[in-house]
Amino acid sequence: MQMKLPLGHARSWPLLALVAVLALLVAAAFAQQASAELPKGIGPIQELTLPAEIDPVLVAEGEATFTTYCSACHKFEERYVGPALAGVTVRRAPEWIMNMILNTNEMIFNDDTAYDLLAEYMTPMSELPLTEEQVRAVLEYFRQVDHDLGL
Ligand code: HEC
Repeated sequence: MQMKLPLGHARSWPLLALVAVLALLVAAAFAQQASAELPKGIGPIQELTLPAEIDPVLVAEGEATFTTYCSACHKFEERYVGPALAGVTVRRAPEWIMNMILNTNEMIFNDDTAYDLLAEYMTPMSELPLTEEQVRAVLEYFRQVDHDLGL
């Protein structure tokens, strides 16, 4: 009878080891996810490699487009109708940003991140009639703003 107690403890060791292994696997999966690339979104922009240098001509074009089409809903450092856009080039992939602007309706309903934003802001961003070149210029403007903010 006295032998049963240590035996009972011994039996729980394999279970503890299994739990430890599972915990390690879950931790490894999270670490991998954190280091994975940011999602690119859904739309025409599949792969975009940005030059290290910011192009001032594109920035000026992008700023003009932003003022005309976007400033009614967006500011940079405070929430407005839509999210504050400061830091957007850090938290989103460049492809995602361009797809959000070029393919807004599909993004807000089918992209997980954009859908979460819609749920939070409760107003759908309007899909605007901009060309890929105009949207690329807006992205350059965002890069300049984030650069100036030290982000
Ligand atoms: C009618 C208001 C409105 C206009 C106009 C608008 N947006 Fe938005 N935008 C939003 C809202 C609201 C969201 C959050 C998603 C949603 O609710 O649809 C958003 C989300 C975004 C996001 C994602 C922000 C993040 O934190 O990831 C970007 C980038 C963006 N807009 C850029 C633009 C650009 C560039 C323009 C102009 C070409 C523009 N928006 C015009 C309302 C607007």
